[in-house]
Amino acid sequence: MPRQLFVTTALPYANGKFHIGHIMEYIQADIWVRFQRMQGNIVNFVGADDAHGAPIMIAAEKAGVTPQHFVADIAAGRQQYLDGFHIRFDNWSSTDSPENHELARQIYRDLKANDLIEIKAVEQFFDPEKNMFLPDRYIKGTCPKCGTKDQYGDNCENCGAVYAPTDLINPYSALSGATPVMKSSEHFFFKLSDPRCVDFLQEWTQDGKLQPEVANKVKEWFSVRTNPDGSKSEGLGDWDISRDAPYFGIEIPDVPGKYFYVWLDAPVGYLASLKNLLEKRGENFDAYMAQPGLEQHHFIGKDIVTFHTLFWPAMLKFSGRKTPDKIHVHGFLTVNNGEKMSKSRGTGLDPLKYLSLGMNPEWLRYYLAAKLNAKNEDIDFNADDFMLRVNSDLVGKFVNIASRAAKFLPDGKLVESNEQSQAKAANLLQLVAEYLDQREYGKAMREVMAFADGVNSSFDAAAPWKLVKEGKTQLAAQISADAMQMFRVMAACLKPVMPGVAAAVETFLRCEALTFKTAATPMVTGHQLGNYSHLMQRVTQDQLDALFESPVEQIRAQAALEFVANSSAGMPLSQPSPTSGRGSDQGGEEFAPLITIDDFAKVDLRIAKIVNCEAVEGSIRLLRLTLDVGEERMRNVFSGIASAYKPENLIGKHTVMVANLAPRKMKFGISEGMVLAASSADEKAQPGIYVLEPMPGAMPGMRVK
Ligand code: MSP
Ligand code: ZN
Repeated sequence: MPRQLFVTTALPYANGKFHIGHIMEYIQADIWVRFQRMQGNIVNFVGADDAHGAPIMIAAEKAGVTPQHFVADIAAGRQQYLDGFHIRFDNWSSTDSPENHELARQIYRDLKANDLIEIKAVEQFFDPEKNMFLPDRYIKGTCPKCGTKDQYGDNCENCGAVYAPTDLINPYSALSGATPVMKSSEHFFFKLSDPRCVDFLQEWTQDGKLQPEVANKVKEWFSVRTNPDGSKSEGLGDWDISRDAPYFGIEIPDVPGKYFYVWLDAPVGYLASLKNLLEKRGENFDAYMAQPGLEQHHFIGKDIVTFHTLFWPAMLKFSGRKTPDKIHVHGFLTVNNGEKMSKSRGTGLDPLKYLSLGMNPEWLRYYLAAKLNAKNEDIDFNADDFMLRVNSDLVGKFVNIASRAAKFLPDGKLVESNEQSQAKAANLLQLVAEYLDQREYGKAMREVMAFADGVNSSFDAAAPWKLVKEGKTQLAAQISADAMQMFRVMAACLKPVMPGVAAAVETFLRCEALTFKTAATPMVTGHQLGNYSHLMQRVTQDQLDALFESPVEQIRAQAALEFVANSSAGMPLSQPSPTSGRGSDQGGEEFAPLITIDDFAKVDLRIAKIVNCEAVEGSIRLLRLTLDVGEERMRNVFSGIASAYKPENLIGKHTVMVANLAPRKMKFGISEGMVLAASSADEKAQPGIYVLEPMPGAMPGMRVK
């Protein structure tokens, strides 16, 4: 029996574009969904915009549009991100949809009928000019502790004091500048402190639906305890679910002028988006939800655990609905060593810029998969690490197998394959499937890459290129057929992570759609493969430099390019360069498509003298070179050759540089060109980086053509 799965990711606030943290969450969930589908399970995977709340209302007002118009504009920009990163939701809706209005109101009525709604008076700051109650973040004033002006309503940025908005000296509304007045208003509360709720949640949060570390944290919220600052926490308190008009939200039934607090209707949006999807398909929502085996999975970040482990399950339970089966909590993504990204305004890695630079979305999917596990742990996107993993794992290990093996199959036909390899393959498929199901993506990726290492080293040991020279073409074909069978198995394992590459592999191999099941049966003897064309490019340093260059720096770099490199005299000098290595296999890389002499002439290559060379603090990869290219000034160039050369051994040598490459801002400074060096795509089989050195007599500034 296939599993029936209803899967969601958190609904992003509709006040900003997606940032890389959102994309990470969607990729994590999308991998899981694709995996489940490959296993034959039936999934509905939905998202929606979280449209309501005061910040969106205020942002719309500032933009001079209605909140509906404002969120529609944001929604219109969503699809390009999702398509770009191969994230395939079955539906994307909005919490302002008719389905959500209706469902949220119905859930409220059911909770009320169950005697779990209570009205209490709440005293709050009110802006008499705007005629609205002010959320804490919209109240400012003078710090009661240190006297610093213009501090927010909850804490002082100068002295760090924590206080209530009512403690501020000379408070004012951040919206109008008016002095707020205290005003009482009736608020609606969900009685979470009711023993029925407490008992239910104590059990629900501790019976395996949450990751152990999350369940432990949640446990603390139930107990009466003394906080580090001496204050007392009372266990579960009632939850204020209403806001007074004006508010962009859903009106509370029978209470004109009162709206649901955004977090009441936001998770209902999961159900509303599903209902919207099912109705479009002509299916019945209630019947779908009533299926006994239906599993409801929510993927969320660590900052919204309370809402999903307390409020949401209690709302569902006590309105007589199905409760979630699993809450999968992930940590935060940081970029280039822990630079925290702001919640609504991500910094560091712009997803659209990534795509516009022509960077492959599956590189990012693979990189994140390699870093993700089933725990609530932060992960870091590190540019150097990203390049290393993608180039060495995907291009150097995985794709390399197909590219090498394709050469020794006569007419592209498979000969008989090896049964021992098939047993290992079956084992890999089973292990990877278990890891993916448990969201242990990093472990799954490591298994696949270790397997690729094994296949590559058997291929190297058998050396089919030598066998061919010795006339043993049949043996060479067998070894290659075996490698190709294993390549297909690995492609199946990677398919949830890299659906695009997997599709290209299916076309190349002319095999049926890869699943963990179909991949367990080898392609038959005599099977005709398609033509091999290169499956994946390498990440380049230029792409990464451009990705992390700020728009201002981009403009500056463009201007700096107007410096033209002119030749003049220099000192000839020459030394032998380091050598090692062995026969190559096109350097492990396909030749690039043909270009014309005019294309080549665009690249201005010059002889450069290395007048200075030093290590770069904070980088194990880079050396900083000071180059004389025959201009009035020296060029500063960073080169990823620290693993191959000691700085002192390069000083005084000549090399070749690309002199008209747009300057790039890097973490350590601006790089004004690129030094040429040779390396194999398969760093493992053929390690080493070799900087180019001209024959004696070449002078700085001379053009290489
Ligand atoms: N609107 C609420 C969620 C309502 S769910 C019924 C919200 N929106 S959000 O846009 O701020 O965040 C959406 C999701 O993105 C959350 O799961 C959040 O944890 C996640 N992330 C936000 N920043 C993130 C990172 N830097 N890294 C990973 N995920 C992050 O909260
Ligand atoms: Zn202060």
